[in-house]
Amino acid sequence: MTASKPDLYRDLARQLAALLAGEADRIANAANMAALIYHGLPDLNWAGFYFRRGAELLLGPFQGKPACVRIPVGRGVCGTAAARAATVLIPDVHEFPGHIACDPDSRSELVVPLVDSGAVLGVLDLDSPRLARFDESDQEGCEGLVALFVEHHRRYPEAWR
Ligand code: SME
Repeated sequence: MTASKPDLYRDLARQLAALLAGEADRIANAANMAALIYHGLPDLNWAGFYFRRGAELLLGPFQGKPACVRIPVGRGVCGTAAARAATVLIPDVHEFPGHIACDPDSRSELVVPLVDSGAVLGVLDLDSPRLARFDESDQEGCEGLVALFVEHHRRYPEAWR
């Protein structure tokens, strides 16, 4: 039997908590989180992070094909999520005028910002080759995973550079 989405995300959250436990380095932790998501969720062609550097988002750890290295905040799906400090769910990337096509296979996209005390630290970006791959359950599930990540790194503010 296929697990329900809430069950799947609950399981991923448990695995993520175990992977993060005791480790302060956010690049290492982001790398493991990207791998966990990419291999744990079906129908993805890209999963990873961009971290904010001033007015830009800079490519972080990911799984998938090589991607754009720098995205101005406010541009593309990632930059829009960062500018709004809110999740952006795009059922069809061809319908989103500012979409930045890193991998032509991408058809739908979910971007969750990493927000700590109102500051946008970066984004988690998921791409799928399937139209309308992401729904509200995915949004909720991924927001939960991102909250775990942000909350974990609050314990190590000196490691967030
Ligand atoms: N499609 C994104 C760019 C990043 S890649 O998908 C990895 C965007 O429009 O922001």
